[in-house]
Amino acid sequence: MGRISLEQIVAAVDDLPALPHVVVQVMELTEDPDSTAQDINDVLSQDQAMTARVLKLANSAFYGFPRRIATVTDAIVLLGFKTIKSIVMAASVSDILAREMEGYALEPGELWQHSQSVAMAARHIARKVKYYQLDLAYTAGLLHDIGKVILNNAMKESYHKVINVVMEQNIPFLDAEVEILGFNHTEVGARVAEKWNLPQDLVEAINFHHTPENATENKDLTALVHIADAVCVAMGIGIGIDGMLYPISSEAMEMFGLDEVAVETIISELTDIFSDQQSFAK
Ligand SMILES: [Fe+2]
Ligand SMILES: [Fe+2]
Repeated sequence: MGRISLEQIVAAVDDLPALPHVVVQVMELTEDPDSTAQDINDVLSQDQAMTARVLKLANSAFYGFPRRIATVTDAIVLLGFKTIKSIVMAASVSDILAREMEGYALEPGELWQHSQSVAMAARHIARKVKYYQLDLAYTAGLLHDIGKVILNNAMKESYHKVINVVMEQNIPFLDAEVEILGFNHTEVGARVAEKWNLPQDLVEAINFHHTPENATENKDLTALVHIADAVCVAMGIGIGIDGMLYPISSEAMEMFGLDEVAVETIISELTDIFSDQQSFAK
């Protein structure tokens, strides 16, 4: 098994389930200034499993509410439309991301753990560096590795070849993917985001999360996701083989005035944040 064709990629992206209708409706409602918490509640309550997940995530220590949020309407009022939108997105992709990713040496649940960690890290770092689109940072972090879901099958068969290329040629994992498969998980992930009609800055952040200097649309967002990913890799969270030779972009670090000391601080803050297992509810 060697290179895969563009047609195979397109077919695999098409096979991926569309975003659930409930999610698409919630996205639309949160964009509409005339909609109310009740409107969103009416839509979400059509899906009880989704509602339960949303409430679990809304109640995680990450969002810091001292008392229990018992209803979707409460969650919307307390957290706001944008945060609810990002939580609904997380609740809807957790199943896809929780699959086993053998090709990337990830156990069931590990890619979800990694994705949710990068999402929280991106939101946390965004607040620290005063990048105010906190929930956009979260969603970009959540989806950054979605391309692995598509490439996993091809990777299963090429796993050893990719590892060998990384070791023998001393090149980053991402370049080894391209060399062996013809595609890497970032460009494939961008195709998934396009298929789901996500905004262009999310497509870009997914596309360039390993090479943030290539971003043009929203350089800050892409750099944030890159740093959040690199921090989670440094912390050893759900990295499988993507963590091999992960170069961190000094340009991205400089954009936010971050140095090694700042990263150490972020890591210790995130260690606390990640200790709440409720954040990883599926
Ligand atoms: Fe990645
Ligand atoms: Fe990642």
